[in-house]
Amino acid sequence: MAPTAQRQRVLSGIQPTSASYHLGNYLGALRQWVALQDEHEVFYFLADLHALTAETPDPAVLTDRSRRAAAQLIAAGVDPERSAIFLQSHVPGHTQLSWILECLTGFGEAGRMTQFKDKSARGGADRVSVGLFTYPILQAADILIYQANYVPVGADQRQHIELTRNLAQRFNSRYGDTFVVPDAFIPKESAKILDLQDPTSKMSKSLPPAGTIDLLDDPAVTAKKIKRAVTDTETEIRYDPEHKPGVSNLLAILAAVTDQSVAAVEAGLSGQGYGALKVAVADAVVAFAEPFGKRVNEVLDDPAELDRVLARGAERARPVAQQTVETVFAKVGFVPPAATA
Ligand code: TRP
Repeated sequence: MAPTAQRQRVLSGIQPTSASYHLGNYLGALRQWVALQDEHEVFYFLADLHALTAETPDPAVLTDRSRRAAAQLIAAGVDPERSAIFLQSHVPGHTQLSWILECLTGFGEAGRMTQFKDKSARGGADRVSVGLFTYPILQAADILIYQANYVPVGADQRQHIELTRNLAQRFNSRYGDTFVVPDAFIPKESAKILDLQDPTSKMSKSLPPAGTIDLLDDPAVTAKKIKRAVTDTETEIRYDPEHKPGVSNLLAILAAVTDQSVAAVEAGLSGQGYGALKVAVADAVVAFAEPFGKRVNEVLDDPAELDRVLARGAERARPVAQQTVETVFAKVGFVPPAATA
């Protein structure tokens, strides 16, 4: 598909850090990716370079997670015809540009990234890698290298996008107009899915599994997790995130999965008890997750074709990235490689 001048460019990435994405990943990110591919020129990649920053998984595990992640994007509706889907490690420009941007980033500036601060506080300064420290700068390179206009991400990524914008502006004013300054595209609050056991925290793979709905979980496990979700000592089904975070989270999940407003699902359950709410949520989530899991397995059944899809995606991404790297290298003053013969 030929890129058209009018279509805005969208880029996003997601790390392949587990065997299955969870419902929060789907409702908070992947669903937006799918929606954006109709009207925009989109680049979506698996951030396998970033997946080495927090831990260095067993190599076979990383390989498997990357293919499974790609299969899940496709099963979620990211269409390889309309979207370039690729692996970050297949496009060398990301790390090339990252180096230049690292040299424009203050040490203190990088140290102020809250995600780094949180993770290093948990792990201790000697246990976290330099890669975790420079993570946001690689992310900036991921975005700027495609001259992306919009970056759909969760609210937790706002600071990284802000850094990206600052680096783009800094480069542009130092070396002349080069980068598009991108905007974050952050979905509405209603899409924020919380942990089932601790509905004050975002659903996250770093919390215990009982609170996380993995998309590839067995349906019986999913139903059980939802039935054990924390509610409150009242009995009324009411959307009130402040006083009733557990019940409100279940209503938000039901609304999101069934594509209705929270008010509509709330009205539909009025007068009923928490048991009925949980049955409705479990049924709706399973009705979504079951066919999703089947599609993932179909894609994974043909790994050669999956690898070709990723290779074609990288073929679309690489020339765009290469062009930016060449421009940037020339602007900073690297001697251009002469043609030989
Ligand atoms: N840091 C992002 C996250 O954890 C993943 C990511 C890496 C990303 N590179 C990106 C997102 C570029 C958007 C654009 O969600």
